[in-house]
Amino acid sequence: MILVTGATGNLGAAAIDHLLTKVGPDSIAAYARNEAKAAPLRAKGVDVRLGDYDDSAALAAAMEGVSKVLLVSSTDHGKLQDQHLNVIRAAEKTGVEHVVYTGTAVKDADASPISPMLQAHFRTEDDLRSSSVAHTVVRNTMYTDALPVFIGADVFERGINLPVGDGRTPFALRREMAEAAANVLLQDGHEGKTYELTASESYTFSDIAQALSERSGKPVRYVSPDPQAFEDGLRSAGVPEFGVATISGFVTDMREGRYDIVTRDFEDLLGRRPMSLSETLQEVYGL
Ligand SMILES: NC(=O)c1ccc[n+]([C@@H]2O[C@H](COP(=O)([O-])OP(=O)(O)OC[C@H]3O[C@@H](n4cnc5c(N)ncnc54)[C@H](OP(=O)(O)O)[C@@H]3O)[C@@H](O)[C@H]2O)c1
Repeated sequence: MILVTGATGNLGAAAIDHLLTKVGPDSIAAYARNEAKAAPLRAKGVDVRLGDYDDSAALAAAMEGVSKVLLVSSTDHGKLQDQHLNVIRAAEKTGVEHVVYTGTAVKDADASPISPMLQAHFRTEDDLRSSSVAHTVVRNTMYTDALPVFIGADVFERGINLPVGDGRTPFALRREMAEAAANVLLQDGHEGKTYELTASESYTFSDIAQALSERSGKPVRYVSPDPQAFEDGLRSAGVPEFGVATISGFVTDMREGRYDIVTRDFEDLLGRRPMSLSETLQEVYGL
């Protein structure tokens, strides 16, 4: 039995969808905190086990009879490491054989303006290494799916206005990363490994503007404004201070190339080349 956490979220649900193409629903359990949101999983025949990452007893109960766990990183940023540790401890306690953790593919996290947020992922990796459970880390790069958060859904009218300069990021589609993580659960020989799930090449925002222009037939201009002016613009648009710091932290990391890591891991785990930038943008923007 494979338990997927964060199962009502995008990555967890996509991992379950891929698992369902390979194994029956009676081999899959879903950890979810919201019963109503889990209804579509139940409808697919998946065994929904309710609980929060904060609830160690519920985690242990959910892992009864489970041999493998996909630990999808929590969105609860202040508590992330403790919550992940609860999952690891429950796995140890119940004799889970293999935990696969979805971390983040970033370098020089210490230098990032959002270092605490990023470091929590690496501390979870340390917690896994110190645990008695066999584990695999799949570090996810930035989702192409997250691009509209940064450049807007109205990019065809307003262009791209983001202070990333010529920074490169190997954006990848979330559902393909979910597929790669699910393959780690389905195959043997991944214990003790760390994979960086990144596209086969790294892209500038000029590349993104060009791909969007070609796909849509509408010219999309990329302008990289002064970072301070960009932040002030977010504030005057009513974005709260935490949001400004988070968005500008990710943008700074992209500008300074912290996501610029390219490996073959993603391709190897998928068993094919990941989708191109243009194909992923087509899917994300419905072009
Ligand atoms: N690499 C990137 O570009 C990128 C971009 C965005 C996010 N991420 C990170 O990748 C992870 C997965 O992404 P995603 O798109 O699948 O995120 P998502 O759609 O927001 O899903 C997060 C899942 O975690 C669950 N969850 C959050 N806090 C929980 C708690 N305390 N107890 C139990 N479950 C909890 C959510 O439950 P509910 O459905 O009940 O809320 C949801 O199922 C997230 O941690 C996210 O921060 C990475």
